[in-house]
Amino acid sequence: MEWKPKTIIEPFKIKAVEPIAMTSRAEREAALKKAFYNPFSLPAEKVTIDFLTDSGTGAMSAAQWGALMNGDESYAGARSYYRFEKTVKDLTGFEEIIPAHQGRAAEKILFQSIARKGIYIISNSHFDTTRANVEYTGAEAVDFPAEGALDWGKPAPFKGNANVQAMESFIKDKGAENIPLCVMTVTNNSLGGQPVSMQNLKEVRALCSKYGIKLFLDTARFAENAYFIKMREKGYENKPVREIAKEMYRLADGAWQSSKKDAIVNIGGWLAMNDKELSAKCRQLLILMEGFNTYGGLAGRDLEAMAVGLDEVLDENYLHYRIASTEYLGNAMLKAGIPIINPPGGHGVYIDAKKYLPHIKPDQFPAQALTCALYLEGGIRAVEIGMLMFGKRDSSGKFLPADMELVRLAIPRRVYTKSHIDYVIEVFEHLTAHKEEIQGLEIVEAAKILPHFTAKLKPAK
Ligand code: F0G
Repeated sequence: MEWKPKTIIEPFKIKAVEPIAMTSRAEREAALKKAFYNPFSLPAEKVTIDFLTDSGTGAMSAAQWGALMNGDESYAGARSYYRFEKTVKDLTGFEEIIPAHQGRAAEKILFQSIARKGIYIISNSHFDTTRANVEYTGAEAVDFPAEGALDWGKPAPFKGNANVQAMESFIKDKGAENIPLCVMTVTNNSLGGQPVSMQNLKEVRALCSKYGIKLFLDTARFAENAYFIKMREKGYENKPVREIAKEMYRLADGAWQSSKKDAIVNIGGWLAMNDKELSAKCRQLLILMEGFNTYGGLAGRDLEAMAVGLDEVLDENYLHYRIASTEYLGNAMLKAGIPIINPPGGHGVYIDAKKYLPHIKPDQFPAQALTCALYLEGGIRAVEIGMLMFGKRDSSGKFLPADMELVRLAIPRRVYTKSHIDYVIEVFEHLTAHKEEIQGLEIVEAAKILPHFTAKLKPAK
């Protein structure tokens, strides 16, 4: 008889293992002090569960490791490039396929080719590096999240969507001639790894067509987004995820990807489009800053691993496990009364630190304090998305409270098992019982640009 088991099992078995640190509280206390209460400064060897990012931290498959040996390292016209090009062409339908060493390199060559002062780039939400690359050209990056997207606790199926009406008013106000490009980030990393619906992509496509604006997708987590569409959007229940992904790409004029996420490689990325004139401009910058057209800052073997990963990530057994395990962590946290962005995202769970730690004053870095407590109590490394990351300061240099005060637990792909996740849940239960003891922090030293990476802090008095 056909039956449905409750247990989510990892749809892979383990061939190579890597030990992780099992530290004492005293060791962690010393390491945190030495790192000036900034988990970015912790040596990875002192971390038990590393949820800092899902970027480049995934486990490659035996097939990917095998493909590495097949890398053709020819400078020009390498066989590995053609294999990679064919895979990206089949998936996206685009003609011009440009490899780049990671997502932000693709962003750099795209925005330096299309943006300048006086120009606006519109989006559901720009990821930080996208925004930084837009602003570096002098252009302005403007976000149009869906209504309710910032209502963290209130569930909705597609909280990654764009607010199309607000986008249209903005276009009318600023003039379509000043808006060359619209970016849809799938899934929406800045707002909780939430998916974008096909319906919303279609509406944005229609809007862009009406005003002659190019639509590009930032597809770091395209497979997770496509899987959410299958699970949550009417009419897609029976469509293979691969077909859904293809449909997403075919609504756009171009796309890029940080392949460190949904191509499950440690390094890699690409930019793709049909526009020959724009791609020629991008390729000039590619050659100047990344490398020749057929390797773009990567080794031939990296292109092989990306080609295999782009195929593997669309395996629905993998995607089921991936989304179910993030949901498993998120739901356990909700059950323990921890305020998270609800529903949990595809690649991680985001905690509303302001709400979780109301006793810490907003100017004492509640989210950063929570990342420190997670490390101290459980050896877990997470990332602050709040006052320190946004880095807004007054004229005296004092940090100002941010709208968002979140902690992201980003889950690397195929790395941790269900018992690792159970351990994280246990750490949270313990932490929640003692959360009033978590102390706020104050700044010792912070850089002007991107302060969160290197800031030094200490417990607040
Ligand atoms: N776009 C999105 C949506 C991303 O999440 C990232 C990276 C990038 C672009 C840039 O790609 O790192 O390969 O240069 N996100 C990582 C993270 C860093 O931790 O979320 P990259």
